[in-house]
Amino acid sequence: MMQASLLTTLLLAAAAGLGQSPTAGSAANTSAGSFLKGNAAAGKAIFDGSGNCLSCHRIGAMGSVAGPNLSNIGSRVSPDALEQALLNPPAQAEPQDRLYEVVTRSGKTVRGKLLNQDPFSLQMLDSDGQLVAFSRSEIREGRFVDPPPMPSYQGKLTSTQMDDLVAYLASLRLPEDR
Ligand code: HEC
Repeated sequence: MMQASLLTTLLLAAAAGLGQSPTAGSAANTSAGSFLKGNAAAGKAIFDGSGNCLSCHRIGAMGSVAGPNLSNIGSRVSPDALEQALLNPPAQAEPQDRLYEVVTRSGKTVRGKLLNQDPFSLQMLDSDGQLVAFSRSEIREGRFVDPPPMPSYQGKLTSTQMDDLVAYLASLRLPEDR
């Protein structure tokens, strides 16, 4: 009798636990953007796959540093502005985000972020995240890539894909904002 009631108690506790965990889990998943209509998992699939976003953007340890690092973009940029960044990228370009390009006298092209330049040298972070330093005498041309390389996704994504991408980007937050 003792054992049976203990078992019942355990089963009830387990059932209550099972009942609770999906609710708790989904609350955590949606807290960053419960008002967004998109599906963040579908957005991640577009980002990593057909959207080719990783060829220019870094998230965590994945992707390129040619464009801005988007690891915590959801903490910095509102969903509306994220959508604008995808539809109308040049409106968003900040100088520190712009892609820089050096062409050396030997004909090599290196693209990435301009870190610093002075009369004698120029330092960049190339698109693999490696620090590259040039002396002025090696450089034939140095310039910001114009027009900015971030393509407009106007008309290239369905509105569902756009919602999914924005939901994914909005979910990329600093731990304290999640
Ligand atoms: C060819 C390189 C390239 C590709 C591909 C690309 N981006 Fe960008 N992206 C950039 C650059 C560079 C910027 C900085 C603004 C500019 O130069 O237009 C940027 C800016 C952004 C911003 C604004 C960032 C901020 O800090 O405000 C977002 C959001 C963004 N991109 C998302 C995406 C998504 C999502 C995709 C894929 C669907 C994508 N990008 C594909 C290069 C790229």
